Amino acid sequence: MKNPLFVFLTFALVASFAFAGSTDKSSNVESRVRDLLAKMTLEEKVGQMNQVTIDVVSKGEGGRAEPHALDPQKLENAVLKYHVGSILNVANSAYTLEHWHEIITQIQEVATKKSRLGIPVLYGIDAVHGANYTLGATLFPQHIAMAATWNPELVKKEAEITAYEVRASGIPWNFSPVLDIGRNPLWPRLFETFGEDVYLVSELGRAYVIGSQGTNLNAPDKVAVSLKHYVGYSFPMSGKDRTQAWIPERMLREYFLPMFQTAIAAGAATVMVNSAEVNGIPVHSDHFLLNDILRDEMQFKGFVVSDWEDVKRLHTRDRIADSPKEAVRMAVMAGIDMSMVPLDFSFYELLLELVKEGAVPQSRIDEAVGRILKLKFELGLFENPYPNRSLKAKFASAEFTEANLAAAREAITLLKNDGVLPLSQNAKVVVTGPTAASLSVLNSGWTITWQGDNEALYPKNKLNIVQALQAKLGAEQVVHVPALATGHALEMPALANAISHADVAIVCLGEKAYCETPGNIDDLALEETQLALAKEIIKTGKPVVLVFLGGRPRLITEVVEGANALVMGYLPGMEGGRALAEVLVGEVNPSGKLPFTYPRYANALMNYDHKPLEVAEGNKYAPLFPFGFGLSYTTFAYRDLKLSHQSLPQNAQLQVSVMVKNTGNRAGKEVVQLYVTDLYGSVSRPVKQLKRFAKISLAPAEEQEVKFVLAAEDLSFIGRENKRIVEPGQFKITIGELTQTFTLK
Ligand code: BGC
Repeated sequence: MKNPLFVFLTFALVASFAFAGSTDKSSNVESRVRDLLAKMTLEEKVGQMNQVTIDVVSKGEGGRAEPHALDPQKLENAVLKYHVGSILNVANSAYTLEHWHEIITQIQEVATKKSRLGIPVLYGIDAVHGANYTLGATLFPQHIAMAATWNPELVKKEAEITAYEVRASGIPWNFSPVLDIGRNPLWPRLFETFGEDVYLVSELGRAYVIGSQGTNLNAPDKVAVSLKHYVGYSFPMSGKDRTQAWIPERMLREYFLPMFQTAIAAGAATVMVNSAEVNGIPVHSDHFLLNDILRDEMQFKGFVVSDWEDVKRLHTRDRIADSPKEAVRMAVMAGIDMSMVPLDFSFYELLLELVKEGAVPQSRIDEAVGRILKLKFELGLFENPYPNRSLKAKFASAEFTEANLAAAREAITLLKNDGVLPLSQNAKVVVTGPTAASLSVLNSGWTITWQGDNEALYPKNKLNIVQALQAKLGAEQVVHVPALATGHALEMPALANAISHADVAIVCLGEKAYCETPGNIDDLALEETQLALAKEIIKTGKPVVLVFLGGRPRLITEVVEGANALVMGYLPGMEGGRALAEVLVGEVNPSGKLPFTYPRYANALMNYDHKPLEVAEGNKYAPLFPFGFGLSYTTFAYRDLKLSHQSLPQNAQLQVSVMVKNTGNRAGKEVVQLYVTDLYGSVSRPVKQLKRFAKISLAPAEEQEVKFVLAAEDLSFIGRENKRIVEPGQFKITIGELTQTFTLK
């Protein structure tokens, strides 16, 4: 075994430089927090740590009256009697901008004008692919599709526009981005992730945080983020949502923490906790994860919010607390600063008792409340807690729609093509399948409603695939034969007849909209009826283009072989229909790359960065399509991979360069991917790991030199002592088919 060169001081240093220059402002905020805390009663403080859902302050049974309206009495009860610090969510479905303005104004009037100290309420919302709870907002591809763009600039833009539209709704806090790593394809929240790779998730997460928060949370169009779900939520053994994960410390540090570290260093304001459990310990009660790692190691300075009802669940579900009160004590002492209670005031009552009894020290309350108030000051809520109506100007503007379309275009990933695509301008096509004529399948969960499945509430001016293709090719050239969509039986004779008059059949497969636990599945395979439909159509002998829409890679191996092309649409958002049509007819040259491994078989779920022993003795990484894969209508050639050093001193940088040429006859975008292999290590090392990427545009015959810089830190890993180390030795760089090796001294 070799000796580690050095142990990293995690991100403490990086974090302390992140906001260099803002010292004056932050000391001012700190003194305002101190002054305010000094004036607050225990009741007022404990109230700040409470978050309730809007139902609690709304009219009607369970707050669900339609049309939605706040109940002034319930509101005063929550804000004046229980001093709630935060409210979240929508009662049923998305509100208009005007309704948001009304209710945020109503809430803040009570909080700032009627309460003793005038502390504004912090409103929080899930705006996970745009301001999805504001009607008409710009709804982007879901994050798995944003990841397929491999373009941090597009993610940053998405975050900027989302922040703008959320703030335009009067809301300053967004429960996004999900930084869970998507390494289990069954998990119904895979679509909310940026995929399976540590580096890709970290880079896109950083871009999101910077786009949403900017450098000044007080700016009128910026919104505080909440990194979620810290940590280990995405790796349930069973694949089912909110179930147990077992993640040894080395694995946790190698695969699950780096993205949170990166986003914290970028200034992320809040963190939301994993609803489930890791290593037998519900994370809401895990002092080690919430303090030793999050605070001491990662230097997180913001506040920690629980997930929905998860403090209570320590008693009701996990049974690690023998009473609701013990659950509150455990969670607060483990590091939960704010509880998303969210349906009552029990947390307030119980925490108050606990402090009075001495079971929770005042100092812990001051710490939590101080963190919450700090964010309220930073967001400028004490100066102006009201919606800024001038932001209506760019809400859902043509400019934002164009940015959304640009993202969808770059997300779409061409996985197979024997030349049938792009379609010719005069092609006659039949479009069929359950995802052909619906907007909800392009958007899925977190769209207008939580489940995103209420098609009737979707905007009338957005195009599904059929409509978008008809707009491109002309209605007479595009025949839609509904099949397997809700309410339509499979009428194969009618379909076969239509296909016999067409040049190409476009078969749109995939998943219905879902979100969280309702999206659990027992089988990764796509439903038999859909596979049967595709097989029948393939049997007709007409060229078949499969389009897949969905949040996870459902198994379709048996139909891909017989199809002429496969287009992966993921969940491309409100402009997804248009973007897909543009790709199908060749107006857009596809450039998306898979952000996950597309499995071939249900029991061969291997990630791309597997270990050597997983591919020894006849075992193979032979997925249907590998991580990072995606075709184009043009071709690219790589040559001259060069390294600045054969032998790299430990403090030097390695310059890597490669020539990339467009060798086809269309302009196209290519994602140049740099992988590192550590040839020998004191713990077994992955066969390769993504360490850099760049998306470039090349005209036909154009060639470009692409350069990357690597440092020792990029060669680091979690060693036997569970600490990050760098070991000298031999490394291999791979870009495309080219490889070069060097030695780290
Ligand atoms: C989800 C979170 C979400 C919260 C508030 C929970 O069920 O796990 O991701 O932010 O609800 O809507």
